[in-house]
Amino acid sequence: MKVVGIVCSPRRGGNTEILVREALDTIQESGGTTELITISGRNIAFCDGCRTCVEKGICHINDDMQEICQKLLECDGLILGTPVYFANVTAQAKAIMDRLYVLFSQRRLRGKVAGAIVIARRVGAGQVLSLLYSYFLAHRMYVAGGSIGYGRDRGDVKDGVGGGADTTALGEARNLGRAIISLHEQLSK
Ligand SMILES: Cc1cc2nc3c(=O)[nH]c(=O)nc-3n(C[C@H](O)[C@H](O)[C@H](O)COP(=O)(O)O)c2cc1C
Repeated sequence: MKVVGIVCSPRRGGNTEILVREALDTIQESGGTTELITISGRNIAFCDGCRTCVEKGICHINDDMQEICQKLLECDGLILGTPVYFANVTAQAKAIMDRLYVLFSQRRLRGKVAGAIVIARRVGAGQVLSLLYSYFLAHRMYVAGGSIGYGRDRGDVKDGVGGGADTTALGEARNLGRAIISLHEQLSK
């Protein structure tokens, strides 16, 4: 299976990237192929709501989102990773989510497997995780699960706990990788 991980933190090498890499590494160790996309430094405009994509199946905005859409069409699974910014996803994550309207309108992500990775310093991770699950379901994707990590500064998440009792954040990210592989195997039977 091929899984694309999108890091929606503007901070390169930050906590989100660390956990998304951990999940992708686990998928690779299980025989999958992976690709990491970081939004940092990319040019991604906001959706302007023109609905051209609904009528024509293409987005009229020519930026880095075209390449990301192509990669998502070719993959079997997606990991969306975002830090919590004021109890929500980052603006970069929201821009990507909205721009995927072009794939939503044609149900092009339907049947793919999805997982979420959320990092917070303290508050809001659970609600952002729920928000991402709802987003995946809107696309008719299969939700394998999600993992949470806590930390503020770059790398904090390596020593931090996950959302579950007695679970490290890195361990949760690995569990998410395994859950994605397992769900994809079940769906492929
Ligand atoms: C603008 C901004 C808003 C934030 N809002 C929250 C918040 O609402 N709750 C929280 O627990 N942490 C919040 N944080 C902390 C980040 O979620 C935390 O530093 C995280 O580790 C950043 O991930 P990164 O290293 O991948 O960029 C905020 C950070 C920034 C820069």
